[in-house]
Amino acid sequence: MLNKISEKLRPWCAGPRGPLLLLCIGLLVGLGFVGSTSAVLIATGTEKFCATTCHEMENNVYAEFKGTIHDVNSSGVRATCVDCHVPRTGIPLYFRKINAARDLWGHFVTGSINTREKFEAKRYEMAVRVWTYMKQSDSRECKACHNMDKAETSSEKAQVRHTRAKAENMACIDCHYAIAHNEPEGGPGPQELVIK
Ligand code: HEC
Ligand code: HEC
Ligand code: HEC
Repeated sequence: MLNKISEKLRPWCAGPRGPLLLLCIGLLVGLGFVGSTSAVLIATGTEKFCATTCHEMENNVYAEFKGTIHDVNSSGVRATCVDCHVPRTGIPLYFRKINAARDLWGHFVTGSINTREKFEAKRYEMAVRVWTYMKQSDSRECKACHNMDKAETSSEKAQVRHTRAKAENMACIDCHYAIAHNEPEGGPGPQELVIK
């Protein structure tokens, strides 16, 4: 079978149009790859997917997120799961998505957070992972929406703290943690956390 195919193809590839043919095949395979990758990224990048595909999220972090300032506010501009947790484009996005595959393992194989109690028991550990990520990314996702230099009505308290935040290169979550979900308990908060 393979022999037959390669016999048929040989004259083509060896002929003058060979390189062109190979290029076309390469392009098609490449396009297929990019297309399917994009489809997966788009399908897994919605609030609906992240918040309600599995009950681990739906019953815990999503339920807690509902009604917070990033869910409902006077402007109607919202930040949902992916806005805070997933980089917008490029290499960081791919790494984040690959990393998220561990959630599948937890869901289907170990069931490590499949009850409220188990979720709570693991929450601090998971929060540390998120805090670490946000510190290392220099609050990239927060800053994609918030520009604190342009926040006109910042209270005096906010201005003082934000000046300090900048001078000391602090992450937004050093002060604004637990803004979308219940406060994690079990260890130091993000400011005291030592990132190894
Ligand atoms: C998709 C855009 C977006 C992203 C991403 C985002 N925010 Fe917001 N944030 C908003 C909007 C919109 C509001 C509501 C503004 C308003 O109504 O005054 C808000 C409000 C806030 C407030 C004000 C809370 C209050 O009670 O007044 C804080 C603090 C805040 N965000 C921190 C953060 C932090 C920290 C991050 C990153 C972990 C973040 N935001 C990510 C859009 C975003
Ligand atoms: C050192 C602590 C600290 C850090 C770090 C910090 N903030 Fe704040 N932020 C504050 C305080 C304090 C307030 C005022 C809260 C209040 O008045 O109740 C505030 C207020 C805000 C508000 C509400 C609107 C306003 O200006 O009053 C937003 C939005 C906000 N911060 C976003 C951010 C973002 C985004 C970052 C990261 C780029 C950040 N903050 C880093 C302490 C901090
Ligand atoms: C405004 C930014 C923001 C939004 C929106 C947001 N998160 Fe989070 N999330 C955080 C931060 C910050 C943490 C780290 C713990 C903390 O400070 O609450 C976190 C922690 C988590 C954790 C680890 C467990 C925990 O409680 O610490 C999970 C899981 C999670 N988020 C999932 C989601 C899902 C699903 C959504 C959408 C329904 C969502 N997040 C929306 C900022 C956000």
